[in-house]
Amino acid sequence: MSSTTHNFSNRVVLITGATGGMGQAISRSMADASAQLVLTDLDADAGAALVDDLGGGDSIMFCCTDVSDASSVKHLVAQTTERFGRLDCAVNAAAIEFETVPLADCADEDFDRMMQVNTTGLFTCMKHELRAILKHGDGGAIVNIASSSSFRPQHQQPAYTASKHAVLGLTRSAALDYASDGIRVNAICPGAIDTPMLHNAMKRRGRSADKVAERLSPLGRFGRPDEIAAAALWLCSDASSFTTGHALAVDGGMLGS
Ligand SMILES: NC(=O)c1ccc[n+]([C@@H]2O[C@H](COP(=O)([O-])OP(=O)(O)OC[C@H]3O[C@@H](n4cnc5c(N)ncnc54)[C@H](O)[C@@H]3O)[C@@H](O)[C@H]2O)c1
Repeated sequence: MSSTTHNFSNRVVLITGATGGMGQAISRSMADASAQLVLTDLDADAGAALVDDLGGGDSIMFCCTDVSDASSVKHLVAQTTERFGRLDCAVNAAAIEFETVPLADCADEDFDRMMQVNTTGLFTCMKHELRAILKHGDGGAIVNIASSSSFRPQHQQPAYTASKHAVLGLTRSAALDYASDGIRVNAICPGAIDTPMLHNAMKRRGRSADKVAERLSPLGRFGRPDEIAAAALWLCSDASSFTTGHALAVDGGMLGS
């Protein structure tokens, strides 16, 4: 699907995890749709390269932010409104996944780190994003990247599964509280998508791409990051104006089978 079906001109969009597999695809589609973009991730060089790749200019800025650091997230949103005057939409894609153990073997510090980034980090981003969107009173949209693991766990991922269940809770709770302000909050639940996160996970587990694709997707292939971007743009756009509190599976049929 082409992002040219959406027009985000005069809309300010913040994207976390922007230099990751899905984040880059979402950033590219939003740039194609003429959004004013605030991109954020951990690596300044990767951020600068992405901004260059998207053509640079006044309508894009990159900020290095660790989403698990509350003061940095607050600063990020302050920089956004200082530069562009407002915030309309946010796509929260930053997350980590590094597990290969069942719960009884999960180290306390690993569980804590996963929750700090995937859940508390997303909570902090949402908090400051909502405050900024509320300021102008015209409504907006937030899209959180959850996971098929928000519904159906994979083996040996207790902390990741918990963190992604919590993302749905935060999504639905905020959707309810901010509906009357015209702010829609939705989640995308990707299945196996062809990104560095998926490839690192397969490598750690010694699994072959063909077998994983066959096992996890009735369509028999991995999803492409641009297929997640298409869903993110739809959920941020007025085309989804009656959709809020929804968890949209983009998973090649995994959860439906
Ligand atoms: N790839 C998949 O198969 C898959 C499946 C389901 C859900 N997801 C989810 O999709 C989202 C995007 O993942 P991806 O597949 O593009 O992975 P990715 O690893 O390519 O991208 C994740 C990005 O998040 C950034 N990040 C990690 N910790 C951060 C922190 N503390 N602060 C700021 N940024 C941080 C990373 O630097 C990276 O660029 C994640 O929320 C992930 O959990 C991925």
